[in-house]
Amino acid sequence: MHSEPADRIVQALSVALMNGTVYFPEHRRVAEASKEAAAALDLHFQGRESFVLGVVKGLLIVDGAPLYDLSVRAHRLMDVIGERGGFGIRFSRGITADEIVALVKALLQARTRSAEEFNALLAHREIVHAALQVKPLREAPPQEAASSGREPAPPREDCIAESGEPCVEVYTWALGGIRDFVGNLKRDRKVSLTQTQDIAVRLTDALARDRNGFVAMASVKDYDSYTFNHSVNACIYATAVAEQLMTDKKELVAVAQAALLHDVGKILIPDEVLFKPGALSDAEWTVMRQHPVLGAKILMEAQGAAEIAINVAFGHHLRYDQQGYPSLAMPITVDPLTQLVNVIDVYEALTAKRPYKKPFTPERAADVLLRGVGSEFNPLCVDLFLRHFGIFPPGTPVRLTDGSEGAVATTNPCDAAHPVVHVTRDADGGVPDRPMIVDTAEKLPGGGYRLEIACSAAALQARTQSGAPA
Ligand SMILES: [Fe+2]
Repeated sequence: MHSEPADRIVQALSVALMNGTVYFPEHRRVAEASKEAAAALDLHFQGRESFVLGVVKGLLIVDGAPLYDLSVRAHRLMDVIGERGGFGIRFSRGITADEIVALVKALLQARTRSAEEFNALLAHREIVHAALQVKPLREAPPQEAASSGREPAPPREDCIAESGEPCVEVYTWALGGIRDFVGNLKRDRKVSLTQTQDIAVRLTDALARDRNGFVAMASVKDYDSYTFNHSVNACIYATAVAEQLMTDKKELVAVAQAALLHDVGKILIPDEVLFKPGALSDAEWTVMRQHPVLGAKILMEAQGAAEIAINVAFGHHLRYDQQGYPSLAMPITVDPLTQLVNVIDVYEALTAKRPYKKPFTPERAADVLLRGVGSEFNPLCVDLFLRHFGIFPPGTPVRLTDGSEGAVATTNPCDAAHPVVHVTRDADGGVPDRPMIVDTAEKLPGGGYRLEIACSAAALQARTQSGAPA
């Protein structure tokens, strides 16, 4: 069992590394997270001299014991430590926030080959309270066997957040809120951001309590109103990813609100274009392509709109290579959060069920994102998104290689293709007499996975409809 300071240390270091990767090591978010890590380390050091982090057999080892209940944001921390070839990082009493910032920079940028070389570099940079430590970090105990009887994550229908609010209730409330906001805006032509601020706060809080439940809600693509569901879904996805990049609640709420409002310019697009049940003509596309600029203008004229909301409204259809729309007279710097909403916007549109098109399966949509990496999409944003939602998001019905069926309970940030599955029908078609959880990342002693996802139910359905073998 790990202490709360240990969890805080892991979280803060993960956020610092993630921001150092997405932005740059001198970014203020790295400094803020490093300050948080130093404070948490200080708490941990009351009565202790060191804190050691390492990676063994794909597990994060904290002070000699594996941290199973790993936050999704910690994968970058594991990657960076893992890249150092099986060494751990030892933090000593007295470490400062400045030293952690310098350590993040060294971890992300230094290309040294040995621990000695890396430690010499740290000393050269006056980092005296952190160093790479050679094994042994203590081997990780074997992971729990699949189907071990662990209590499964609750299925979507039963999903109740800690406050007692079912996810579906909060989601439906948010949907109604955004519908009212758009209605008021269309009627009065006056933006009041208080309502979207309230939605952003409540969704952010609820997401923190039950991330999988809300992501599962966003994964349901069979809805009546694409416009409103799309905004709420984009908000859920963007906030869940942004949680890994920031520790400040206010900033997180600002991102949630920005995602919620990314298409606000569409209220000025005529309904016959916006709701046309089919492909748009060239002239209609010209009209539709105005919505990012219109949205940015609406927010610039509104009282209290955050800069990130204006950026997202303006830039969410700009490609990574700055093609797309609006067309630019000269290159501009696009915030990675805007590029993240760009990825989410495309994924959402592809997987949505619309009157004139069949939805892509999550696997197929993930493939589209991967093909666009580096040209259409920011590679880090695609990586972050797919690690957590893209291939098999929580709630996705799946069939395993032994024929059993169930739904994805939680994603695996270190291996997006191998999530944890809640099995609801066994290989013989029977209903298991006790909760059954399968970790598809579990490997056999000789290598290879014990059980894998054969396909998602959506993919199976698509193949069956097309006449292809299931
Ligand atoms: Fe848009």
